[in-house]
Amino acid sequence: MPGVLSRLAAPAALLWAFNLPFTYADQTTKFTTDLQSETWNGWGVSLAWWANIFGDREDLADVVFTRDSTYWSPNSTTLPGLGLNILRYNAGACSWNKINDTVKMVASANIPAAKQIEGYWLDGLSTDPTSSSWNWTVDANQRTMMLNAQTRGADTFELFSNSPMWWQLSNLNPSGASGGGINLPASQYQNHAIYLSSIAKYSQDNWGLTFTSIEAFNEPASDWWVSTGTQEGCHFDASSQASLIPILHQEMQARGLDQTIIAASDENSFDVALDSWDTITESTEKSYVGRVNTHGYQGLSGPRSDLRAAATEAGQLLWDSEYGDSDGTGATMVQVIMADITTLQPNAWVYWQIIDGGGWGLIDGDITTNTLNGATTKYYMLAQFTRHIRSGMRILNGTSSNVVSAIDEESGTLVIVAANWDDDQEFNFDLTAFSKVPADGTKVSSWLTDTAGDNLYATGDSVTIEKGIISLSIAKDTVQTFEISGVTV
Ligand SMILES: *[C@@H]1O[C@H](CO)[C@@H](O)[C@H](O)[C@H]1NC(C)=O
Ligand SMILES: *[C@@H]1O[C@H](CO)[C@@H](O)[C@H](O)[C@H]1NC(C)=O
Ligand SMILES: *[C@@H]1O[C@H](CO)[C@@H](O)[C@H](O)[C@H]1NC(C)=O
Ligand SMILES: *[C@@H]1O[C@H](CO)[C@@H](O)[C@H](O)[C@H]1NC(C)=O
Repeated sequence: MPGVLSRLAAPAALLWAFNLPFTYADQTTKFTTDLQSETWNGWGVSLAWWANIFGDREDLADVVFTRDSTYWSPNSTTLPGLGLNILRYNAGACSWNKINDTVKMVASANIPAAKQIEGYWLDGLSTDPTSSSWNWTVDANQRTMMLNAQTRGADTFELFSNSPMWWQLSNLNPSGASGGGINLPASQYQNHAIYLSSIAKYSQDNWGLTFTSIEAFNEPASDWWVSTGTQEGCHFDASSQASLIPILHQEMQARGLDQTIIAASDENSFDVALDSWDTITESTEKSYVGRVNTHGYQGLSGPRSDLRAAATEAGQLLWDSEYGDSDGTGATMVQVIMADITTLQPNAWVYWQIIDGGGWGLIDGDITTNTLNGATTKYYMLAQFTRHIRSGMRILNGTSSNVVSAIDEESGTLVIVAANWDDDQEFNFDLTAFSKVPADGTKVSSWLTDTAGDNLYATGDSVTIEKGIISLSIAKDTVQTFEISGVTV
C-alpha cells in the first residue's frame, strides 16, 4: 500500500483512527462517536466585489444560497445550488462627495472601480443616521444580494470592514498608508465604531436583517495595505485592534445591538491570528469578543491546533472566515477544508469570492469587464461539502486528513466526505461504534466529483451497508460524499 505509506508521512495523518481489519481494504476509517462540542454554523462567502457587480442577478442568488438546480444562462448549464447560509457583507470605505467644499477622497491609481465599495457615511458632520451625512441608498447591488440570500434561507450575516470610511483616514486613501503603516488616527476610532454599529442598527430597523457579527478589521496586522494598492485595506497592529474593540462594543451597546457579537480579527494566517488574539485577550475584556475569525491562507501549514486550543480556552467560537486559492480543480481547497475540519475545528468555513478568474472563482468571470462564464470544478468540489454538511450538524472528530464526517442527530443522517488522492483504492467506512446503524442491504446515496471534471457532482454507483460497514472503490483524485440515514450515536 504505497499510497497509505505516503499519506502517513504527512503530519495530519497523525490524527487518523487507522486500522485494517480487512485485508482487501486500502483504507479503513473506524468512526468514533466523539462529536465536536459546538454545532456546525455553516458555509459561507464574502460578498464585496462580486456582489457589487453582479448582486442584482437572482439566478446567482439561487445558485449560491439555495440547493435548487438552477439554470445558469451565461454557460447554458444547470448548477446544483451550493446552499450557503453565511454571508459577509462589506461595509464600503469610498464616496465621491466633497466635504467642506474642498476635501475629497484620494484613490489609489491601481484600484479598479469594481473594488471601490461605496460607503454610507459621507462626511462625518453628523452621527445621526437620518441626517444628510448619510446616504442609505448607495451600494444597492451588494445589499440586494444580501437580502435575496436572506429570502432564500441564509441566516448568518457578518458585517465586515476592509477600511474605515476614507475621510477618517490620515491620507484620505482607503487603500492604505504610503508605507503600509497605521492610517486610522486614534481620534477616529470612535467614528469607525459609530460607522459599523450604525449600519448594523439601520439594517435591523429598516432592512429586516440582523447582523450576527461585526468584524472591524481585515488582515489588519499585515503591512501590505498601501496607498498604491489594488483594493480597500487598512493596517492595525494588534494593540490598536485591542484599543478599538472596547469602543466598538460601547457603540453597539449604545444602539442596543444585543443580538450582534464582535468577531476578531480576520488575520491572514493562523500564526498571525494566534499572535493578535494573544494581545487582544491580554488587554481587552474577554466578553467583548464573541468569536475568533481567522483567514486560511497558510494552506496546509500553520498552528491550527494551537489556535483551536486558544479559542476553546477563551470559550469562543472559531471561524475560518476567508479562504481562496488559484487551483480551479478544487483539490487544494478540499485538502485545506479537511485539514481545517480535523485540526482547526472551525464552526464555519467561508470562501472568499464566488466570481473570479484564474482558478480563484467558484464560477469563472471578471468583475472588471462584467464577464460571467461557467462553474469551475472547484465549485462542484465545494458542493460535495456544502450541500450535505449542514448548519446545526455536529462534526465527528478523530477521523482523518482525507475522510471527514458529520451527523444530524435529530434526523439520524450521517454524512461522510472522502477524498482519494492516490491510485484507485478500496475504502471501508466502519460505523459499528454507533448504537444504531441501518440494516444490512440498505442503500447508501452518494455523489462524486473528480479533479479532471469527468464527474461533476455525479450520482455514485449503488452501494449498500453490510454489518455496519460500507465498502467501495474510489477512483484517483475523486471526492465522494455519502449520506446514510437511520444512524444513532
Ligand atoms: C473533539 O473535539 C472537541 C472540541 O470540539 C474536543 O473537546 C475533544 O477533545 C475532541 N476529541 C478528540 C478525540 O479529538
Ligand atoms: C469639515 O469642517 C468641520 C467644521 O469646521 C470640521 O469639524 C471637520 O473636521 C471638517 N471635515 C473634514 C473631513 O475636513
Ligand atoms: C445617494 O446615493 C444614490 C445612489 O448612489 C444617488 O443616486 C443619490 O444621488 C445619493 N443622494 C445624495 C443626496 O447624495
Ligand atoms: C461551461 O463552462 C465550463 C467550465 O468553464 C466549460 O468547460 C464548458 O465548455 C462551458 N460550456 C458552455 C456551453 O459554454
